[in-house]
Amino acid sequence: MRAIQIAELTGPRDALREADLPDPEPSHAMTPGRGVIVEVHAAGVSFPELLQTRGEYQIKPDLPFVPGSEVGGVVLSAPDGAGVAPGDRVAAFCMLGGFAETAVAPEHFVFPLHDGLDFAQGAALVLNYHTAYFSLVTRGRYSEGETVLVHGAAGGVGTAALQVAKGLGARTIGVVSSDEKERVAREAGADEVVRSDGPWKDEVKELSGGGVDIVIDPVGGDRFTDSLRSLREGGRCVVVGFTGGSIPEVRVNRLLLNNLEVVGAGWGAYVISKPDVVRSIGEAVGRLASEGFVKPIVGARFPLAEAAEALELLDSRGATGKVVLDVR
Ligand SMILES: NC(=O)c1ccc[n+]([C@@H]2O[C@H](COP(=O)([O-])OP(=O)(O)OC[C@H]3O[C@@H](n4cnc5c(N)ncnc54)[C@H](OP(=O)(O)O)[C@@H]3O)[C@@H](O)[C@H]2O)c1
Repeated sequence: MRAIQIAELTGPRDALREADLPDPEPSHAMTPGRGVIVEVHAAGVSFPELLQTRGEYQIKPDLPFVPGSEVGGVVLSAPDGAGVAPGDRVAAFCMLGGFAETAVAPEHFVFPLHDGLDFAQGAALVLNYHTAYFSLVTRGRYSEGETVLVHGAAGGVGTAALQVAKGLGARTIGVVSSDEKERVAREAGADEVVRSDGPWKDEVKELSGGGVDIVIDPVGGDRFTDSLRSLREGGRCVVVGFTGGSIPEVRVNRLLLNNLEVVGAGWGAYVISKPDVVRSIGEAVGRLASEGFVKPIVGARFPLAEAAEALELLDSRGATGKVVLDVR
């Protein structure tokens, strides 16, 4: 099969090589001896792959390796009792190996793809939407009707968080850095959009009538203190990522004064040993897809051979929605 490997840790431009490799065996590191083999039609491109080109991600396989955490495709083989069968269209989370014509995933990370979604959308469905649901509901303890502020609202996690929040009945406010990103955030379901380079904290307080209930923050950096100031009493700021570059620090007196919480949301680390949690989040996301709320916004698409360009787009802050590699 044709695949893209990370062969050096020199960043997205120079780290990648195209390779001809044997197809994977039906066994996954998470479920040794069992695995669903997927004919990959589209591979999702995400921040973990970008970080992996520099050796900066927590998972550091021996070189060379095939990156690619999620795919949309067709099942070629599945173990008995897997819940999917050969020929099924699926969205699958394989953790590694997705930048290839064939990939293997643990069965609890393979989900039937709703008829209304194409393969590129399938390649955008697991990492971001499961993270969004986990951040908002499992960790953020969202209750119906609450107001949710989403940073990086035109990005992969951001657009997913907006769609999930709307599907669960939230009022939503997105924070973005450009006109084009404002358009994408509104398409994803932002009721209001504010600009990260403007007085967004004051605008959010006004728009929300005193503060929001939950902040979903995949960006971090120096806006974090203003995120805390944007919360109403009892609000939760959910830490999802640090695309802004720096890891913020909290003066905890702020938490005490307004009875606030800062909550970590590390989806992968939490669900990896909990197949039941994965399945139940998968069912919730599937339900939101069948109701028309979850509809991944696919931004730039590249052929498999141009994976470096796809990763550079994320690196340059130029991506909107989900960046996808078309594999076939
Ligand atoms: N905790 C978890 O379980 C989990 C799961 C999945 C992903 N993540 C993390 O979530 C973060 C977001 O991932 P994503 O796929 O949504 O990324 P993305 O599509 O590239 O979106 C990230 C957004 O961050 C904003 N940003 C601000 N400063 C930036 C900078 N210096 N460089 C790049 N972007 C910057 C950009 O929005 P503006 O230009 O509008 O500011 C951008 O749209 C990543 O750190 C990823 O590792 C965490």
